[in-house]
Amino acid sequence: MKRARIAGVGHYVPERVVTNFDLEKLMDTSDEWIRERTGIVERRWVEEGETVSGLGQKAATMALERAGIDVSDIECIVFATMASDHEFPGAGCFLQEKLEIPGIPALDVRNQCSGFLYGLSVADMFIRTETYRNVLLVGAEIQSTGLDLTTRGRDMAVLFGDGAGAVVLVASDEPERGVLTTHLHADGKYTKKLWGQYPSVTHHPRVAPEMLEGDGIYPKMEGRYVFKHAVTRFPEVIHEALKATGYSIDDVDLVVPHQANQRITEAVAQRLGIGMDKMFSNIHKYGNTTAATIPICLSEARAEGRIKDGDLVALAAFGSGFTWASALVRW
Ligand code: UT7
Repeated sequence: MKRARIAGVGHYVPERVVTNFDLEKLMDTSDEWIRERTGIVERRWVEEGETVSGLGQKAATMALERAGIDVSDIECIVFATMASDHEFPGAGCFLQEKLEIPGIPALDVRNQCSGFLYGLSVADMFIRTETYRNVLLVGAEIQSTGLDLTTRGRDMAVLFGDGAGAVVLVASDEPERGVLTTHLHADGKYTKKLWGQYPSVTHHPRVAPEMLEGDGIYPKMEGRYVFKHAVTRFPEVIHEALKATGYSIDDVDLVVPHQANQRITEAVAQRLGIGMDKMFSNIHKYGNTTAATIPICLSEARAEGRIKDGDLVALAAFGSGFTWASALVRW
């Protein structure tokens, strides 16, 4: 059976650095609070005119270069994001136009912080079933333009950043290399624990001036509630992937978790019984970039030599939905 091997990984973050001290000027918050509660020191926010597909294009270009694959050989785009450039169509189509590869499918995956791993499982299945040989998987987000940058929205506003990561997946005949397993979950009972209410098709009309008067257009989260679920689901879904493949946590060279909060990453390491040296983290630089966090981490980990050829890497995510997911990848 074919395996999906990660042939190249790339990332791009906007140039504009927004520090915790910059946020102190916008709302009642402090560098100390943000660092202690989240581990975030700074994040990247786009300038006016930058697009989700544009961030994705830059990440994809790096991934293709590193893979040594020409863009014309890509047979399918899978784009994980919460945010397209416009209400519709999906970001995958905007990216496809930029990459100038018309005709191939462009599939958007909308599973928030778990989006990249949901996308990875779809790409993996396309390759395993020999539907496509070369798939471009992108995770990209612009969160900054949708945040409430006043004290009212400070619990969410300090967490999120913009960025993109991409992987090029290619069909391989090596049975023990590539995406070994993926595991997806959701529980819609928790949809309103972390969500965005407006715009909404249930409202007539779906976009109305009164929406701007309240805070319904901004993302909402019951932070402590989400935190408790996250620290349980991350280790659980990693163990599920290990069990499915017969590996133990000691076999894993690096765990790359979705970057939601450094305290979550530390709690997950503790529950897995591994040291922080085996957990990849870059949240201090970028905050939470939703579907982009895992591919940005993979790109940096690879460039820093933290992921070497032959390494076994565990990926895990948790987020709005609730959705959660894992994958085991042999590099
Ligand atoms: O990626 C998707 C999944 N997301 C997550 O997994 C995030 C999970 N949740 C979290 O990471 C944490 O719950 C937060 C970082 C969001 C919040 O940390 P917390 O330790 O749970 O704080 P809290 O919400 O319990 O708030 C503690 C206090 C409150 O004040 P009072 O009620 O104690 O007076 C908040 O109003 O901190 C206040 N607060 C802030 N203060 C300064 C909330 N946000 C801020 C802020 N700056 N930005």
